[in-house]
Amino acid sequence: MLPSSRGMQTKPGPKRLRQSRFTVFQGSKLKVPRSKFHMAHEHGELESLVGVHSFAQIPTRGRKWWKHWGQLVETFCAASEARENRLTSKSQSRIAYELDEIKEVRRSKSTETRAALELMECVNTALSAPHDENSFWSGVSESEYEASTGKAFVYVRRDRAIGIVTVECLNLSAKRGRWMLTNGCTLVPNVCPVVKLGISRIWVCQTARGQGIAAKLLEAARKFTLPDQKIAKWEMAWSQPSESGLKLATKYNSVRHEKSGQMLIPCYI
Ligand SMILES: CC(C)(COP(=O)(O)OP(=O)(O)OC[C@H]1O[C@@H](n2cnc3c(N)ncnc32)[C@H](O)[C@@H]1OP(=O)(O)O)[C@@H](O)C(=O)NCCC(=O)NCCS
Repeated sequence: MLPSSRGMQTKPGPKRLRQSRFTVFQGSKLKVPRSKFHMAHEHGELESLVGVHSFAQIPTRGRKWWKHWGQLVETFCAASEARENRLTSKSQSRIAYELDEIKEVRRSKSTETRAALELMECVNTALSAPHDENSFWSGVSESEYEASTGKAFVYVRRDRAIGIVTVECLNLSAKRGRWMLTNGCTLVPNVCPVVKLGISRIWVCQTARGQGIAAKLLEAARKFTLPDQKIAKWEMAWSQPSESGLKLATKYNSVRHEKSGQMLIPCYI
C-alpha cells in the first residue's frame, strides 16, 4: 500500500515565482512576473487597446499614428507657414525632417488596420455613411457582403493620421460607371463609362482642410492602388459625393461634355 500523501511531511522549499500571462486577445500578451512589473507588447498596441489616444480628437486633429505603421508611398515637404513662423532660424533645419507622408495601410498588419478602422468609424459617423464597407481594403469581414479588393491610404503629419482615402478596385464587366452632372447631381442615362477605381471614402480632419491634402491622397490612390496600371483621373469614380466631396470632385476630375458644355463627374453605383 502506498503511503498517503496527506500524511507525508514535506520540507518547505524556496518559494517559486511564477509568471502569469494575461491574454487580452490574439497577438497581444502582457507578461507579468511577480517580482517586477514588466510589459511586453507591440509598440502602440496597448495604447490602442486601452484608448490612451482620444477618440474625441479625431474629427479635429486626426488619429495618433505610429511611425512604423503603414507602407510609405510618398513624402511631401509641407511645412506650413504657421509652422515655419514658429521655428527660429536656429531650428530651421528641423523643417527638412518634418515631411508629411502618405502611407498605405497594410491589411497584413492588424494593429495599423485596427487604427485605420477606428479612423473610418469616425469618418463614417461624420458622413452618416454605412459602417460596414471596409472589408475590401482591411480584409476584415464585417458582413455577408464580400467586396472586391482595394486599398486605404492615410496622410500622416508628424505623429497623426490627418486624412484617409479608401479605394475599391472595380470589376470592369459589372458596368458600374456613370456620369453625374455637377449641376443638379443627376446621372446621365444610358452611358456607362468603364471606370477602374471607386473612391469609397475620403476625409481630412477639420484643422487640415484647404491645404491640398485630399487632392494628394487622390493622386496617391490613383498611382498606387494598381501600381502596374496607368489610371486616368476620370477612371476614378465617386460614390454619392457629399457637398464638399462634390466640390473636390469638380476640381479634381470633372470633365466637360463637349456638346452641352456641362461638367460631368465620374461616379459608380
Ligand atoms: C472633402 C474634403 C475631403 C476635402 O479635403 P481638403 O483637403 O480640404 O481638399 P483639398 O484642399 O485637397 O481641395 C482640393 C480642391 O478641391 C476643392 N474643394 C475641396 N473642398 C472644398 C470645399 N469645402 N469648398 C470649396 N472647394 C473645395 C477646391 O477647389 C480645392 O482646390 P483649391 O483650394 O486650390 O481651390 C474635406 O472637406 C472633408 O474631409 N470633408 C468631410 C468628409 C467628406 O465630405 N468627404 C467627401 C466624401 S465624397
